[in-house]
Amino acid sequence: MKASQKILNKLPGSLVLVGAGKMGTAMLEGWLAQGLKLTQLIVIEPQPGKSLKALARRGVKLNPKPGPKAKADASAIVIAVKPQTAPDAVSPLGLYVGRSTVVLSIMAGRTIGFLERSLPPATAIVRAMPNTPASIGRGISVATANTKVTAPQRKLAGNLLAAIGKVEWVGDEGLIDAVTALSGSGPAYVFLLAEAMAKAGIAAGLPAGLAMRLARETVAGSGELLHRSDLDAATLRQNVTSPGGTTAAALEVLMGPGGFNELLTRAIAAATRRSRDLAG
Ligand SMILES: NC(=O)c1ccc[n+]([C@@H]2O[C@H](COP(=O)([O-])OP(=O)(O)OC[C@H]3O[C@@H](n4cnc5c(N)ncnc54)[C@H](OP(=O)(O)O)[C@@H]3O)[C@@H](O)[C@H]2O)c1
Repeated sequence: MKASQKILNKLPGSLVLVGAGKMGTAMLEGWLAQGLKLTQLIVIEPQPGKSLKALARRGVKLNPKPGPKAKADASAIVIAVKPQTAPDAVSPLGLYVGRSTVVLSIMAGRTIGFLERSLPPATAIVRAMPNTPASIGRGISVATANTKVTAPQRKLAGNLLAAIGKVEWVGDEGLIDAVTALSGSGPAYVFLLAEAMAKAGIAAGLPAGLAMRLARETVAGSGELLHRSDLDAATLRQNVTSPGGTTAAALEVLMGPGGFNELLTRAIAAATRRSRDLAG
């Protein structure tokens, strides 16, 4: 990719990352790959790892002392701390909020209302829910904005999220609970599928190691096939199902009463309710 094509090489102000844990680090790596200059990056992280310290030696401002000198009209502030840390972590960020700043939060369960109460009045805020494949640049995030977010700020927030995968926008923040239940928690369901397939293979007589390798590669390969294909999941499923064959015999069980569809509907409804209960 040419430098001119990189989407973050012309960021006017600084970018403040709050919390360089798993998600924060994945985003940071994505931003640097998209042309963000090290000197534009400010990172607030109580326990910086080796690679962050190395970046600090190359120009990233790590944990600048709070005070008037630290004041910056940041282009964006990205909040990637755990939701329970939010009350302590968010309020001090007012220091970095200027007229053009957009605040992007990826904290699960922390609402736009909470962020508005914790930040200066009229702050432009985007709330997003990513998922863990973000760590390999293959996540999907769903974002929603408050009324203060301008079109360029929305574009910037979208670009910051695009560094870790695909991005969708919704107008209704209430949908984020169902998003959390589907794509936020979803990787766990897929890993469970691999576990359950391996266990079922062992029950059908396969040696444990072989069953686990077969389950892992089947889930990973099918995911990649789905990713690369233009066909939808239902068509890909039908393509491997001959009438009266082995796959059809299994699908009769999986798609029958109490099967996959019913189970996942119940599971995602339970996760949606839990997300709603935890929101604040
Ligand atoms: N992982 C996921 O699947 C996923 C999916 C969607 C959304 N999210 C959201 O993404 C956020 C980050 O998740 P994560 O998995 O990356 O968590 P994580 O690895 O625990 O990262 C959070 C980081 O923030 C640091 N921190 C704590 N207090 C801070 C403060 N006051 N100021 C600045 N940094 C502080 C933590 O440092 P210490 O370790 O020293 O506490 C840690 O390095 C969470 O809010 C989560 O809800 C995660």
